[in-house]
Amino acid sequence: MSPITGKVVAITGASSGIGEATARLMAERGAAVVLGARRRDRLEELARDINDHDGRAIACAVDVTRREDLERLVDRAVTEFGRLDVLVGNAGISKIGPVADLDVDGWSAMIDVNVRGVLHGIAAALPVFRRQGRGHLVTTVSTAGLKITPTMAVYAGTKNAVRTIMEGLRQESTDGVLRTTSISPGYVSTELADSIDDPVVRRDIRKNMAEFALPPGAVARAVAFAVEQPDDVEIGDITIRPTTQA
Ligand SMILES: NC(=O)c1ccc[n+]([C@@H]2O[C@H](COP(=O)([O-])OP(=O)(O)OC[C@H]3O[C@@H](n4cnc5c(N)ncnc54)[C@H](OP(=O)(O)O)[C@@H]3O)[C@@H](O)[C@H]2O)c1
Repeated sequence: MSPITGKVVAITGASSGIGEATARLMAERGAAVVLGARRRDRLEELARDINDHDGRAIACAVDVTRREDLERLVDRAVTEFGRLDVLVGNAGISKIGPVADLDVDGWSAMIDVNVRGVLHGIAAALPVFRRQGRGHLVTTVSTAGLKITPTMAVYAGTKNAVRTIMEGLRQESTDGVLRTTSISPGYVSTELADSIDDPVVRRDIRKNMAEFALPPGAVARAVAFAVEQPDDVEIGDITIRPTTQA
């Protein structure tokens, strides 16, 4: 039996890509999963598929930019499955392009989803984790924040803001209640490029994804590795990239 069996895992950005793959893997290994994102039809289809294969899943439409939506996601986990063991704050968008393009609306959207969205998850989950005496926050940051490249400055900034917040939270939480994990993927083949407005940058990213990106299941296995450790073992950071990525 997997150490993940019986855990209750809520995942934001579960309607596609890394979040969907993580939901499928967690459910396969015996977790009950609570699926959050805006596209309700995609979530319901995924929940149906997991339930049809002897898993346990519920769909919960959330927009992570709204604090109350994250509270609802966490409440659904507790109401339907009795507790919340892991929140995977994975929802993200990538409105990348040169800073000189002054895409202020795109910067704001990334800050709202990538940073505020994760903070809303932390705010919703922490009181539950404290009450239970146990809980695990996992977030999807990016290698974009480790190797800074042109067009990715603001996106990388949002990811590194989250990395910093997670490390600060870790240092404030050494009483054994909370585990924190930041996963930094390199290129992963998902729908993320759809959120890029600049057509040239979008084409380049799609080309890279087609040529050498990891399948999202590779990142899901990294999430599972962190979650399946015994409660006294915290995997703080994982970097996972295609072997051929520069
Ligand atoms: N793909 C990569 O190369 C890569 C590399 C490093 C890090 N990442 C990070 O990995 C995470 C997952 O992205 P992905 O690559 O799997 O891309 P994806 O397939 O586009 O998935 C993004 C997910 O975020 C959700 N989302 C976006 N805005 C949201 C909002 N306001 N509220 C709730 N959910 C929202 C989307 O669902 P809805 O549209 O249905 O809301 C979708 O489920 C992101 O944080 C991304 O930055 C990706």
